[in-house]
Amino acid sequence: MTTASHNESAVGGTAEARHRVIAIDGPAASGKSTVARRVAESLGFLYVNSGAMYRAITWQALDQGADCSDRDAVLALLESTEFTCEESDGAGVIGLNGAVAGDEVHGAEVNANVSRIAAYPEVRDRIFEVLQAFPKKADVVMEGRDIGSVVFPDTPYKFYIDASPEIREARRRAQGLEDSIADRDRQDSTRKAAPLMIADDAEVIDSSHLGVDDVVTAVRERLAAKGVDEAKSV
Ligand code: CDP
Repeated sequence: MTTASHNESAVGGTAEARHRVIAIDGPAASGKSTVARRVAESLGFLYVNSGAMYRAITWQALDQGADCSDRDAVLALLESTEFTCEESDGAGVIGLNGAVAGDEVHGAEVNANVSRIAAYPEVRDRIFEVLQAFPKKADVVMEGRDIGSVVFPDTPYKFYIDASPEIREARRRAQGLEDSIADRDRQDSTRKAAPLMIADDAEVIDSSHLGVDDVVTAVRERLAAKGVDEAKSV
């Protein structure tokens, strides 16, 4: 973790206006992070990776020696943590007691525990509040598991990026990361609170045999057909 520096401005503020939200959901290693970041950059929207927030809380729990399967220990950690919205490098990120997590959140131990942490409703409630604050300030592209189904169910801009399990496993291996995707998929899809699902009105894109550019183009074309082509000035 690094301490939030002065060039990371707080996001949220008092603005009441609700900006546009492009929701991009999908299973592990479906390519949604790369696509979401590229779509956000090309439109001039803020990029928000909600999975990184569940990862940051998991990293913090592990760092403090908490047993992630001990619900009371995790809830005690939540109670002692101040959650803030920060902006860093064009992305909306979560601050935990003023600190922003770095690359450590992609480590094997976080991969192995994050879905357990993300299944606790109390954890989801806290992150829900943080996610809701971002579009008060700016147009956003937000990626995750439940953005179109639960966090912003009213947005007209919903995508679900999928790929076959074999291809997703291969993509993660190519990144050199230790990650049991099948386990996370199972836990994310079967939990009671906000399980991974395809929202009824989401555009589904199977990226199994598409390059990143193709998926970004497909998303941009569908957005353009709905009149979304650049950020509103704020
Ligand atoms: O990038 P990758 O597909 O590996 O996953 P991620 O987006 O970083 O999300 C990590 C984990 O956080 C997921 O496996 C879920 O357990 C959880 N998550 C969630 O429950 N809800 C979200 N909106 C985003 C992530």
